[in-house]
Amino acid sequence: MSKRQILVTSALPYANGPLHLGHLLETIQTDIWVRFQKLRGHDCTYLCADDAHGTAIMLTAEKLGITPEEQIKRVQADHQKDFDGFLIGFDNYYSTHSPECEHYAAEIYQRLDANGHIEKREITQLFDPEKNLFLADRYIKGICPKCKTDDQYGDNCEACGATYTPADLINPRSVISGATPIEKASTHYFFKLGEFTDFLKEWTRSDSLQPQIANKLGEWLEAGLQSWDISRDAPYFGFEIPGAPGKYFYVWLDAPIGYMASCANWCEKNGRDFNEFWAKDSKAELYHFIGKDIINFHGLFWPAMLESAGFRTPSSVYVHGFLTVNGKKMSKSRGTFIKASTYLKHFQPEYLRYYFAAKLSGGVDDIDLSLDDFIQRVNADLVGKLVNIASRSAKFIHKGNDGKLSSELHNPELWQRVIGKSDEIAGFFEQREYSRAVREIMALADAVNEYFDAEEPWKTAKNEDTEHLAVAVSSQCINLFNVLMTYLKPVVPALAEQAETFLNTELHWDGEFAPLLDHKIEKFKAMMTRVDNDTVDKMLAESKEEAAAAQAPAKAKKKADKKAAKNEPPAEIEFDDFAKVDLRIAEIANAEYVEGADKLLKLTLNVGDETRQVFSGIRDAYEPEQLIGKLTILVANLKPRKMRFGVSEGMVLAAGPGGKDIYLLEPHEGAKPGMQVK
Ligand code: MSP
Ligand code: ZN
Repeated sequence: MSKRQILVTSALPYANGPLHLGHLLETIQTDIWVRFQKLRGHDCTYLCADDAHGTAIMLTAEKLGITPEEQIKRVQADHQKDFDGFLIGFDNYYSTHSPECEHYAAEIYQRLDANGHIEKREITQLFDPEKNLFLADRYIKGICPKCKTDDQYGDNCEACGATYTPADLINPRSVISGATPIEKASTHYFFKLGEFTDFLKEWTRSDSLQPQIANKLGEWLEAGLQSWDISRDAPYFGFEIPGAPGKYFYVWLDAPIGYMASCANWCEKNGRDFNEFWAKDSKAELYHFIGKDIINFHGLFWPAMLESAGFRTPSSVYVHGFLTVNGKKMSKSRGTFIKASTYLKHFQPEYLRYYFAAKLSGGVDDIDLSLDDFIQRVNADLVGKLVNIASRSAKFIHKGNDGKLSSELHNPELWQRVIGKSDEIAGFFEQREYSRAVREIMALADAVNEYFDAEEPWKTAKNEDTEHLAVAVSSQCINLFNVLMTYLKPVVPALAEQAETFLNTELHWDGEFAPLLDHKIEKFKAMMTRVDNDTVDKMLAESKEEAAAAQAPAKAKKKADKKAAKNEPPAEIEFDDFAKVDLRIAEIANAEYVEGADKLLKLTLNVGDETRQVFSGIRDAYEPEQLIGKLTILVANLKPRKMRFGVSEGMVLAAGPGGKDIYLLEPHEGAKPGMQVK
């Protein structure tokens, strides 16, 4: 077996909040792979960092009244603590807000520019005039242009699923300040991705991409690649673009460069050569483990950037699906949005590492953490099968042979069978088919337990003449435990360490397995306790409380903002602006309930020589009979609005905060339907 040189990364978590179990699905998947490679004797290095830039982080810091630098420092400390807690063995954990990252971002950008792969163009975007900030789609909310549901984001409606651009929203507002956004032009820098179509088609054909990913990338390539907007205007927390004052690199430009930065920092600390990994002719393998939501960045933009800048490209990207809990998207109100730190307060990390391994495959399907199944698997497999082998065997060796294993194997066939699975199991780890590896290992554990049961050492141990049999069978089982723990070492490294102490040996998987003969072992100490339902319930309850506590201030603020927005008088206008509104006296010829709408009344209005139908949100304040025959005022030139129940052709005027407190305007006697109000 020749020694491979491998660089591995997990996606860089945003320095904008705590890690949750979804993040851990990724780092655990990666960590198992890395530990496996190291165990097999390869030169494998695992790098990660916090992704520290962008508007979101800037705004969070502002809200907390701290600098972005302070914010990213705090979050990074939390992230590292959580990762440690889950035994994630990074060789280096760094930050994109680092001199190395700034250096390589500038260098790569300058090379792209020198190669003619950067273009400048003026674009118009929505802008928050109060915050003086361009607004990304998720910072704009308003009424869905299609179904008229309020409080929808700038790019799609959660109520009806419509997609649109922020400019299509009715009554758009900035989520940050509440201000009505204006359109504003600005020069942006673009990376001409389209020029890399042929290169990317070639790169995408690499055998090591998962077929689903190759297909997805293929679809995007067929559809044609647009230039990629890589600049953002100040104020922005990030790196300023060289030679472009006031323009910053978009967070996703320098995010993957963070992989390089972490590597450069690690090389510096360990006397290694950066070029060995990143030069065009590098012999090292490079793998990025990522979630399915960031395929375009890693499968298109990143390889194209590296290609243009003259660096090596990734050997592959390994994509996983999303974590669900109890069959559903993680939810704060159900308590299934579980933070890494919350889990660790209640459970050992290896329960989850084992559970994820038992579910993970090389595919991109979502992975469900079913909490009942979690309890069941940990108890049945880890405690009941694997650790059980050691705990039930050890005592016979101490009692019958002073803690020394027999001088030969009692059942060489069973030994052969277990070590004979080595290549197959290693193959599963290599292919990230961890669930298949775990299934094999547990099937072997079953076989070992069956052998122990059939030999009944608890009986033979009772008799001096047969006690040697109990020792021989138990020694055999301890030897098999040694091999099985070695297979599982990448998944449960701390348990493996306990096993090493118990076995008085190190678990190696980089050559042939040899049985431990005439070898002294330690007394067995409990290695792992069972998981119970109560603890799961406690964890869920705590997650729920944490989520509620975190949301309380945000909710209160939203309410206050809405109130303030309602009471604040609009800005001064010109008479001409007022004159644009066509107000008319209208007679309410009919009023009726609307089926399926508990806030609306349907009004039929007589406006002189014309009848209008208007849906009005006054049902809580009026019975239809009270209104029929009354006069009121209609905004007659309001653009008709299509609603679920029909078209609303205008709006009647009323005062009051809403609900029961609504008062329709009524003219003095003498006014006639159709008269203009001026
Ligand atoms: N900062 C970017 C990545 C930059 S990489 C150069 C980012 N950060 S993230 O914090 O949102 O996500 C980090 C990783 O966690 C991503 O690979 C993402 O797919 C993964 N996951 C986030 N939520 C997840 C689940 N619920 N389930 C599985 N993985 C999830 O994206
Ligand atoms: Zn909608």
